[in-house]
Amino acid sequence: MSPAAQTETKLYPPAADVVSRAHVNAEQYSEMYAASISDPVAFWAEQGKRVDWIKPFTQVKDVNYNFGEVSINWYADGTLNVTANCIDRHLATRGDQTAIIWEPDSPTEAAKHITYKELHGSVCRMANILESLGVRKGDRVVIYLPMIPEAAYAMLACARIGAIHSIVFAGFSPDALAARVNGCDAKVVITADEAPRGGRKTPLKSNADAALLHCKDSVKCLVVKRTGGQTTWIADRDYDYNEMALEASDYCKPAEMGAEDPLFILYTSGSTGQPKGVVHTTGGYLVYAAMTHQITFDYHDGDIYWCTADVGWVTGHSYIVYGPLANGATTLMFEGVPTYPDAGRFWEVCAKHKVNQFYTAPTAIRALMGQGTSFVEKHDLSDLRLLGTVGEPINPEAWNWYNEVVGKGRCPIVDTWWQTETGGHLMTPLPGAHATKPGSAMKPFFGILPVVLDPQSGVEIEGNGVEGVLCIKDSWPGQMRTVWGDHERFQKTYFADYKGYYFTGDGCRRDADGDYWITGRVDDVINVSGHRMGTAEVESALVAHAAVAEAAVVGYPHEIKGQGIYCYVTLMNDQEPSEELRKELVKWVRSEIGPIASPDVIQWAPGLPKTRSGKIMRRILRKIAENDFGSLGDTSTLADPSVVDDLIANRAGK
Ligand code: WT7
Repeated sequence: MSPAAQTETKLYPPAADVVSRAHVNAEQYSEMYAASISDPVAFWAEQGKRVDWIKPFTQVKDVNYNFGEVSINWYADGTLNVTANCIDRHLATRGDQTAIIWEPDSPTEAAKHITYKELHGSVCRMANILESLGVRKGDRVVIYLPMIPEAAYAMLACARIGAIHSIVFAGFSPDALAARVNGCDAKVVITADEAPRGGRKTPLKSNADAALLHCKDSVKCLVVKRTGGQTTWIADRDYDYNEMALEASDYCKPAEMGAEDPLFILYTSGSTGQPKGVVHTTGGYLVYAAMTHQITFDYHDGDIYWCTADVGWVTGHSYIVYGPLANGATTLMFEGVPTYPDAGRFWEVCAKHKVNQFYTAPTAIRALMGQGTSFVEKHDLSDLRLLGTVGEPINPEAWNWYNEVVGKGRCPIVDTWWQTETGGHLMTPLPGAHATKPGSAMKPFFGILPVVLDPQSGVEIEGNGVEGVLCIKDSWPGQMRTVWGDHERFQKTYFADYKGYYFTGDGCRRDADGDYWITGRVDDVINVSGHRMGTAEVESALVAHAAVAEAAVVGYPHEIKGQGIYCYVTLMNDQEPSEELRKELVKWVRSEIGPIASPDVIQWAPGLPKTRSGKIMRRILRKIAENDFGSLGDTSTLADPSVVDDLIANRAGK
């Protein structure tokens, strides 16, 4: 069921104690929001003070959304260093406070508490190691690590010296890693021997070895010891982090960076072609990450905050590392999975570390909900004050379970809608300001002007109780600035279809009260367990297999994952469909992209529904995958309408 069709309208107002503690209450939200829209320059000039500048900015905003000349600049003449803000400025007041709590995959291994002082030393050492490997300001470093403290050190070490990091999720395959190393021409890849997760180990170093066969010989590999597992070693290419850290100096001067110098690249899927390198810059991104972290989660000094994402996704960048550390927070980093050793692990960790704010994905909630309430009830969750979700629409059933079973009805839930491109939350209820509705992202954050457009005409639909395409009218400091190496693609993707707006790729509904509901992607991007995937990527992986002539991939509703991956595959003439081949294709896609891209369904398709000009009609394929044959729409423009009957008759799982 799409959130737009939901009838759930019950309001959950925040309790009085939540309101009185909150950084922002309802009145303040209204005032601040109005101010942020009427005078964005004054508003963001004030917010810019959240960050310590080496040279203060005098310019606040310089933005052009016109297709052909898109350019986005915030605080452009200011200079700063991100790590001076995330570490050094806290040393005098909270040097001995825990910055990072690290909880390992196995509950029998000891957790680590890393203070701001220790973080400073480790980041400086890693920064010096990178410099000794030849990394300089503006160079790219790929990070392919498990969720271990060294992942945060590596990110911050890059920021320390002005290198640009590009994190590749440890679940990605060697091919995907190679494409990202080459895509940004990285000088160094930082990896670990193995990544333990859910009691199993991913051989990261050997994946990196396989990837580096397809990269320039000059690329160096810095290897962190995690398990001590055996790895092959190539002299003059591989470097031992743990050994070098013993020798490296624990001081490294922070580089003075321009506000618009890139901080990181993060590859994400689009509706066409290969993943694109989203570029975030230094000043505006940090201001926005810090502000949203503090206000959305109502973070206060001394709170223990846990975001369960992986640093391989933008959520981990903004809300495990940069936002929390800029605010001097204690942020928890978890190496494992929600169901290991059992379905109570999240709650065990919350109780063990007395977590106050907990932020996770709907897919995890749905999976845990299926395991029953006993796993939650075993643990003392009395320190929890706020719950958050991100990544996909949350269905009211999961929302209610989260609220009642986990939050005991006393923790506000923030359903945060945002994207890799946006750097931070764009729409979310604020805990002390808004009554929530299960499944609604509710209200825009400060400075965000959402508009609902008619998908055909591109005209703004005014008023409430309306549905259409979601665009944003003006810029905010956390917005991506370009696609790495391809500004043209940046403009075409986000500024071409609806002129003068940032196009989000999502559909939305503004309900009768003016609250926003995200209805899902309107392009060929699917959302599998909160992971974003281009159907085109899975298609190109499939057709790279010798047995496959053609493939079309669509999403379909999946109870736990949100969406599953449904593939229609046309085989080469000399190939026969078989169970064996089906399994081989699943394995093939996993090895081309990674386990997160595993096809859920493969249907053999002797033909695909195409228009006379040869365009695949995905609308029809989506309906068949959804088991919704009643509304296939007009099929008369197809070159061969009988193809559709065959696909229906042989629908997988029928
Ligand atoms: C897409 C962005 C931003 C961090 C994680 C995902 C969907 C994200 C929500 C939400 C409904 C959501 C959208 C968006 N999405 N949050 N709260 N409610 N949908 O980042 O991988 O860049 O994916 O995720 O479709 O466009 P991402």
